[in-house]
Amino acid sequence: MTAMHAQLTEVYPMLPFVPVSGTGVYIQDEAGRRVLDLYGGHAVAALGYGHPRLVAALSSQAQQLYFQSNAVNLKIRDAAADRVAGFAPEGLDRVFFVNSGAEANENALRIALRATARPKVVAIEHGFHGRSAAAAAVTWGSKDRWYGFPRTPMDVVFVPRDDAAALEAAVDAQTAALIIEPVQGLAGAYDFAPGYLAAARSACDRAGALLILDEVQSGVGRLGAPFGATLYGIRPDLLTTAKGLGGGFPCGAVIMTQDLAKDLKAGDLGTTFGGGPLACAVIEAVIETIESEHLLENVRTMSALIRERCPRGPVELIRGAGLLLGLKTRVKATLVRDALLARDILVGTSADPHVLRLLPPLILEAQHIDRLAHALEELTDASLQ
Ligand SMILES: Cc1ncc(COP(=O)(O)O)c(C=O)c1O
Repeated sequence: MTAMHAQLTEVYPMLPFVPVSGTGVYIQDEAGRRVLDLYGGHAVAALGYGHPRLVAALSSQAQQLYFQSNAVNLKIRDAAADRVAGFAPEGLDRVFFVNSGAEANENALRIALRATARPKVVAIEHGFHGRSAAAAAVTWGSKDRWYGFPRTPMDVVFVPRDDAAALEAAVDAQTAALIIEPVQGLAGAYDFAPGYLAAARSACDRAGALLILDEVQSGVGRLGAPFGATLYGIRPDLLTTAKGLGGGFPCGAVIMTQDLAKDLKAGDLGTTFGGGPLACAVIEAVIETIESEHLLENVRTMSALIRERCPRGPVELIRGAGLLLGLKTRVKATLVRDALLARDILVGTSADPHVLRLLPPLILEAQHIDRLAHALEELTDASLQ
């Protein structure tokens, strides 16, 4: 780990690499060291670095109109909302733009609590939903580690993963919403047992509760489908997304049913920067590029290749979906991460000390996977002490 700059708060463990530029799936430091980035800045760099369409969309919008707020209509905002709604699962066609994943979840929870006038939210153990008060309240383990607020804004009940009976019991007439990631990201790309997400939908339907799918990490093509909701055939009432949505430009969205949107009136939600023209230009460009460059197919192909070629060396098995993958390691995952970085390959860790996370750009190619597989092969147990 490297030291922080003296004027920055020291709240992040830092990798010993200082990137100054990026192209495609590679990032580069001042000395010219090139690192294959299979982590994508926490799943953000969906189109990699310097993608010409993204750069062109951002720079032309910057020249045309750098900013205007939600006090005015913008054609580019309408266009981005059309794109997002067109990409989202059927029935989710109203969009509220925000700036981050936490802000998306904060607003989705607010909408659900208000719409149902119920006091409780059910969340899943090991889930992560962000750092703001409501999003962190439904984040597993936050209270004991970093929550910081004296109380949560609503009652929260956590249920164990993959336990449909526990879900059934917890989601009741007091429940405003159940919030769940289709594949748990920070937990280490944990994909639920088949049928579990459908059980979540049924539990909500039975209790009259709303289902919030947190697709901040899994959304916008990362799973090889537009969203996890599409992949698993689940229709949530609210879907939140961020990260890859802007390919690196900070933005997020809450996507909801017409039924929920119709009860929202002026002043119920708000943000200064959300839905700004620069964000909307890149959102449009990201979705347009995913579609025109057939990146969903690419994600599925590359995911299958990783599953085939990378269970080797310290990697015992691979879980997750699409390009949100968890590599379960026999030794501590940080040892493997460090050894790979020494070979100029960047991968992520997770909340599970034995799971590495791969969140590469969706433009990944087979040659990059070969390079990872080859490096893993070299990592013998003795070399990882
Ligand atoms: C599933 C999920 N939800 C919410 C968030 C919070 O997003 P942000 O950091 O943009 O607030 C994250 C961030 O890692 C996430 O993975």
